[in-house]
Amino acid sequence: MRAKIIGTGSCLPTKVATNDDLSALMDTSDEWIQSRTGIRERRLVSSESETTLSMAAQAGKAALTDSGLQPEEIDLIIVATVSSDFVTPSTACMVQKELGAVCAAAFDINAACSGFLFALNTADAYFQSGIYQTALIIGVETLSKIIDWTDRSTCVLFGDGAGAAVLRASEQGIIASLQGSNGAGGHVLMCKNRGNNNPYISTDACLDYLYMDGQEVFKFAVKKETECIHALLAQAGLMPEDIDWYLLHQANQRIIASIARKLKLSLAKFPSNVDHCGNTSAASIPILLDEVHKAGKLKDGDLLLLSGFGAGLTWGAALLLW
Ligand code: COA
Repeated sequence: MRAKIIGTGSCLPTKVATNDDLSALMDTSDEWIQSRTGIRERRLVSSESETTLSMAAQAGKAALTDSGLQPEEIDLIIVATVSSDFVTPSTACMVQKELGAVCAAAFDINAACSGFLFALNTADAYFQSGIYQTALIIGVETLSKIIDWTDRSTCVLFGDGAGAAVLRASEQGIIASLQGSNGAGGHVLMCKNRGNNNPYISTDACLDYLYMDGQEVFKFAVKKETECIHALLAQAGLMPEDIDWYLLHQANQRIIASIARKLKLSLAKFPSNVDHCGNTSAASIPILLDEVHKAGKLKDGDLLLLSGFGAGLTWGAALLLW
């Protein structure tokens, strides 16, 4: 049995921050941001009631409603995030409590922007082994709290949000999947954890924020994501044009366009929301999936290829039947 997506949901914070809004805070411009990234605006949390947990729970609830399953029918909850509100308990355990999914085992995973695909592939592995039959997977980030707002080359790229999918073990669903990591390349995109409180180790307690070498990440993204897509298509014996929809990590419209060009495909097969969401990291693919699903674009039997890359470095992809 493989994982089939039977419901989706998403949640975006209410505050819209346009490129012009950011230009009032730092030396940047709408023209620079749009021409380099395709981003017009992003949503950012702006009150104490908007948190990683609140968005994850809302997206999860919407996905459950869409699936028709009851919370207590969920066997597994996986939340992919690098910006949880608490070190412990995990966001997944807190979502379990919020939704009343009392029968689920729940844990978080950290694979940065590839996190949703790692969650999907992990749930699929549980389904293939027969351990679980249903899962709720969520990608959620409030990256705004770990971004360096004095680094204009990084802070303009990201947004906050959550996306979720309910999965059921099924005869048809995921057809092929892959994931991988290269820890040796991790220094190009990183964020140190909070200060060390160990009495034997003296460190300064100041927090570090997200650091990114944009050009290195850009090269890695285009090369690795294109390789992943070719590898996945080869696994399934398919050609690029056989896929109905490519749902790629929404980091930068230029990265998406480069990949479409390398695959010799029209951009029409590559839905995008980076213009109004920015890069929401682990949430980007499930938010996009929810948008295209709710817009009625996906038909039964469509072939979807989901692919992402991110800090770690990590990458993941899945080919599935809708
Ligand atoms: N507004 C105005 N100018 C800016 C700016 C901003 N927000 N950010 C950087 N600049 C300036 C730089 O200071 C530099 O100026 P200089 O030439 O005087 O030194 C100039 O713009 C060009 O900067 P550069 O870094 O070469 O731009 P770029 O064309 O490489 O684009 C990124 C930068 C970040 C948009 C691009 O590298 C990128 O998208 N990388 C991938 C990032 C990504 O996908 N991350 C997510 C991974 S999950």
